[in-house]
Amino acid sequence: MLHDSYQNYYEEISNWDFDAFDIRTETLTDWDLYEILGNLACEDSAILDLGTAGGEKLLANFPDCKEILGCDYSPGMIETANRNLASSGRKNITFKVMDNLNMDVPQDHFDIVVARHTPTDPVQIRRCLKDGGYLLIRGVDKYDCWNLKMIFGGGQGYEDPVPQSIIDYENVIKAGFRDIELVPIHEREYFKDRETFKSFLCKVPILDAVDDDLLDKYIADNTFGGRIRLLRNYYGITARK
Ligand SMILES: C[S@@+](CC[C@H](N)C(=O)[O-])C[C@H]1O[C@@H](n2cnc3c(N)ncnc32)[C@H](O)[C@@H]1O
Repeated sequence: MLHDSYQNYYEEISNWDFDAFDIRTETLTDWDLYEILGNLACEDSAILDLGTAGGEKLLANFPDCKEILGCDYSPGMIETANRNLASSGRKNITFKVMDNLNMDVPQDHFDIVVARHTPTDPVQIRRCLKDGGYLLIRGVDKYDCWNLKMIFGGGQGYEDPVPQSIIDYENVIKAGFRDIELVPIHEREYFKDRETFKSFLCKVPILDAVDDDLLDKYIADNTFGGRIRLLRNYYGITARK
């Protein structure tokens, strides 16, 4: 049920482009998905991007190589991705509709699988990786925007008994990967005004609903240098088949 309602949500927005929000980001930790990807990939690499959305991050950050496949279960997102691809001038990239939890890709084929802010099944991912291939996950942790969620009394992962980072980490271990690392990622995001911040919160699934009074309370406590601060808490996982 949750899976279906999230799918409708992504189908309705059909892009995952945040440029319009003019967010200033300060990264406090040094685990960088695209830097790691750039160091691991070579021109012969085959890379799979799970939950690629409109391909925005893939097209901007994945290195040129022999084969890149971006997948998403939302047909609307894949339409956007194909439009973005056509105007990007990039080569060797294809997009297709696929559920990360019911993967339809060749076995022992990819050198690197990337999953950024999207659900994963490490058993299926391991199957499609070549021996020695890498899995790179970046996820949103339960404690992401925790002070905001506390004011609202709920939100993404608020009631989870175990944080998603630990669930993913344990699933990667159980799937039989090696050289596994789980790393916390801390960022500060700054928004220029209330209107932009509110539209951002209405687009992302951090809160279930945006109440104006609670939003004002948060803004009163979290404005620094004229900008509204949001404390982000992500995690990165690297692992090898
Ligand atoms: C938060 S967005 C992240 C997009 C992109 N990876 C990025 O980092 O900007 C999550 C994406 O995962 C997709 N998604 C969620 N669950 C999925 C599933 N089970 N199978 C495939 N895609 C999924 C959504 O449609 C959405 O495009």
